[in-house]
This record gives sequence, C-alpha cells and structure tokens, in this order.
Amino acid sequence: MNTKNWMKLEFPSESVNVLFARTAVAVFASQLEFTLDEIEDIKVAISEAVSNSVIHGYHEDYGTILLEARYDHTKLEISVEDFGHGIPDIVQAKEAGYTTVPQERMGLGLVFIHEYMNTVSINSQLAKGTKVVMIKNIKSAQE
Ligand SMILES: Nc1ncnc2c1ncn2[C@@H]1O[C@H](COP(=O)(O)OP(=O)(O)OP(=O)(O)O)[C@@H](O)[C@H]1O
Ligand SMILES: [Mg+2]
Repeated sequence: MNTKNWMKLEFPSESVNVLFARTAVAVFASQLEFTLDEIEDIKVAISEAVSNSVIHGYHEDYGTILLEARYDHTKLEISVEDFGHGIPDIVQAKEAGYTTVPQERMGLGLVFIHEYMNTVSINSQLAKGTKVVMIKNIKSAQE
C-alpha cells in the first residue's frame, strides 16, 4: 500500500474501549469518500474485532489492544491486534454460529467482519495473540 495517512492507538482491554475504538476509526475513515452505510459497516467490523479481543483474547484478564489504520487513494486498511490466548482453529472460528461461549454469544462476529469488509485476514497463535486485518475498498477509486 502506498500509504497516504495512518494512525495507531493502544488501549487496555476494557469493554468501554469498544465504543472508543469504533468511533475513532469512524472519524479517521470519514476523511475518505465512504458513504454513511460504509462507515457503519466499518464501525460494526471494528466493534466485533475489538470485542473479540476483550472477551476471547483476554477473558477477564488485563491486556492491551493495538489498533492501526492506514489508507491510500483506493482503500482503508485497519488492524486489531491482541496478545492474548489466540484461536486454536481459525477455520472453525469463522463458521457462522460457532462460539466458545454458547450461553452468551451468537458466534457471528467473524461472519459480520467478512460480510462488511472487502478483504479480511486473521493470524493467530496460541498463547501469543491474534491479529485481524480488514480492508474496505473505496468504491469511487475502483475501476
Ligand atoms: N481475538 C480472539 N482471541 C481468541 N479467540 C478468538 C478471538 N476472536 C475470536 N475468537 C474465537 O472465535 C470464536 C468465534 O468468534 P465470533 O466473533 O465469530 O463469535 P463470538 O465472539 O463467539 O460471538 P459474537 O461475536 O456473535 O458475540 C469465538 O467464540 C472465540 O472462540
Ligand atoms: Mg465475536
């Protein structure tokens, strides 16, 4: 990516920071030619990724979450990284309805992230952490 602008944020795994993260990214993304619907898509994806780091990455423990975003004239790339438990089986984690906390959660966060963003990659290592990289294309810039 021929980066034009970027930002980096680090915050603790408190659930209040889900709202903070999605709002910060929405303001950053508003510099680009996204529609309000596309900004909403991005907000949902960020909320899901950051919630996953808070809930699954760290459970009740304290940890830090790194949020980075950058764009060029064609796309916005956002990454959400934690240094927590990691995902044992990414293919299974991505299945609709799969969750490790069935009493509380629906197992749809990763499905929403794939639905609302154009490209998604997930890297995870047990006891090391998880990094989700999401790209939203800028429609007016695609040929
Ligand atoms: N950052 C992460 N660290 C560790 N495990 C994760 C992480 N993100 C996702 N997972 C695992 O992948 C599963 C599926 O995630 P997904 O977001 O799709 O569903 P969920 O979080 O369980 O439910 P929902 O998002 O609907 O509340 C989780 O239940 C969890 O086991
Ligand atoms: Mg989730």
